[in-house]
Amino acid sequence: MKYDIKDISLAEKGRLRIEWAAKDMPVLSLIKKRFAKDKPLAGIRIGACLHVTTETANLMAVLKAGGAEVALCASNPLSTQDDVAASLVKHLKIPVFAIRGEDHDTYYAHIRAVIETKPHITMDDGADLVSTIHSEYTRLTKDVIGGTEETTTGVIRLRAMAEQKVLKYPIIAVNDAKTKHFFDNRYGTGQSTIDGIIRATNRLLAGSIFVVAGYGWCGRGLAMRARGMGARVIVTEVDPLKALEAVMDGYDVMPIAEAARIGDFFCTVTGDINVIRREHFLKMKDGAIVANSGHFNVELDLEGLKEVSTKVREIRDNVTEYTLKNRRKIYVLAEGRLVNLAAAEGHPSAVMDMSFANQALCCEFLTKEAKRLKKTVYPVPEEIDQEIARMKLDSMGIKIDQLTEEQEKYLSSWEMGT
Ligand code: ADE
Repeated sequence: MKYDIKDISLAEKGRLRIEWAAKDMPVLSLIKKRFAKDKPLAGIRIGACLHVTTETANLMAVLKAGGAEVALCASNPLSTQDDVAASLVKHLKIPVFAIRGEDHDTYYAHIRAVIETKPHITMDDGADLVSTIHSEYTRLTKDVIGGTEETTTGVIRLRAMAEQKVLKYPIIAVNDAKTKHFFDNRYGTGQSTIDGIIRATNRLLAGSIFVVAGYGWCGRGLAMRARGMGARVIVTEVDPLKALEAVMDGYDVMPIAEAARIGDFFCTVTGDINVIRREHFLKMKDGAIVANSGHFNVELDLEGLKEVSTKVREIRDNVTEYTLKNRRKIYVLAEGRLVNLAAAEGHPSAVMDMSFANQALCCEFLTKEAKRLKKTVYPVPEEIDQEIARMKLDSMGIKIDQLTEEQEKYLSSWEMGT
């Protein structure tokens, strides 16, 4: 079996951490039990490009239990947990191609290694796997029955491919399931981003001014948790509706050019490019801390920052100090890559439980239904979303009410008024 990881001797530590995560992934455990019995993925090769974390390891175990052959590479050069990669190779016999801190060329060589296993299903987080297979391995796309996409940024890229009619197989947008983005993007990003910023800096948030750029689901979660830690939160937005929502949620809203002067912490979660630019860095206070929790490392204009700096040094793990020409110092976390995965461990297992339950059930769905799907981006079937919500509530021991017959009738009638 081919693989490329940092150090196989880390496997034992990885195994224990994977076991720890599994304890908080009850929905995935239930699916694993059923998959082990029914083998819905027998004969299917899955190529996955995901953050190599303890939660991802548990998803890989479920797919394998379902009968799939799986190969895994990283979806970000800085998010790989090397002990997890080692355990997947040693204990689950899964070919993993991922090393934390790998350079750009190795990152893509690892994606190619997964594509060369000739997957029938691609599982992506950011669409780098799909974009590479479409640009460099077009001949292999005819054997792909479908793919899944984990994140907002990836779904946006894939929709662009579908609109330009270059997408060669159907994709299920796992991100858009309610049991995914309501929870993972909001509570997952909220908690893990604060976790990453604190682990990297050990700074106090209480009493600080925390600027959140972007008020999508991730921004909402991050703003809520920053406020919970005692920070005064400023939101920046380009969308008037989201900006209005942020105002009514009680945050200050202003352009980044104004927020730049007053923030102590800045974190981008927009999915867009060059959100904090050189002119903004030049306005920041001495000691400002700047991070990104959006998928790609393009939200901060680090080239521009370098150009207006006289000195750059690593001052502690995951913290780079830039001394500007105006003598102020700006601290960038985790090289502008996803701070929650690079400086912490990503979202907690309890939310990844639902995200990855969607991934597993969508693979099963594709094995049954791919033939009737077109080469476009599909939502997760409503029944899968509902089923996952039900299983999660069940696992939490929470019961809910059921509609009475009278209520059902009322909801489907239009005649009845006051
Ligand atoms: N994305 C965000 N958090 C994650 C995690 N813990 N595992 C895999 N992908 C993630």
